[in-house]
Amino acid sequence: MHGKFITIEGTEGVGKTTNIEFIQGWLLEHDIDFVATREPGGTPLAEQIRQLLLTPGNEKICDSAELLLMFAGRAQHLNQVIEPSLGAGKWVICDRFTDATYAYQGAGRGMDSSLIKHLEHLVQGALRPDLTLILDIPVEIGLKRASDRSAPDRFEQEQVEFFERVRQGYLDTAKEDPQRCAVIDASQSLEKVQLDIKSVLEAFLVKTKVVA
Ligand code: TMP
Repeated sequence: MHGKFITIEGTEGVGKTTNIEFIQGWLLEHDIDFVATREPGGTPLAEQIRQLLLTPGNEKICDSAELLLMFAGRAQHLNQVIEPSLGAGKWVICDRFTDATYAYQGAGRGMDSSLIKHLEHLVQGALRPDLTLILDIPVEIGLKRASDRSAPDRFEQEQVEFFERVRQGYLDTAKEDPQRCAVIDASQSLEKVQLDIKSVLEAFLVKTKVVA
């Protein structure tokens, strides 16, 4: 039996970490064996690539190098963690995946989405998430939350307009693929956000059991 692949997405400061903990609790309650991981990262090599991508430095990383580094980390992560776990019947809960590439490198940086699609096919073959939760919040609120938490990483140093494009990129993805993507209004109280996440997960579980 193949496990299910769930990804969690959103712009900076949407509350991914807190809500991923909530999802892990929900999986434990339902006795579902899972692996929680993240991108960029998820293996020692891919975590090194994450450092290269997130640490602010003097050398500007050009857009195509950034895109290729994202997919290099992803290839390793898929090979070492995601595919073996799904193959062993475990669910994989991943903090960001390729929707982030369409949103940040595509909508944010303005890279051609057909190029991203090409790399997606090359690295992932037919593998796509089964369910994607997109936590959505006005950009200004998210950036304020993120800056209260820690010093800005290389992405967080971008201007508000960049994150507006990223947010719109995510909303466009949700519109294009409504069967897979659920947009959660993350500006609500944490209790309400988690109620919404729970109802999406419950519906997904029912669908999974019907199909199985
Ligand atoms: P985070 O996981 O702590 O939010 O940080 C990861 C950063 O990397 C975030 O700013 C989004 C960015 N990112 C991309 O630009 N493209 C990608 O494909 C992924 C996975 C992340």
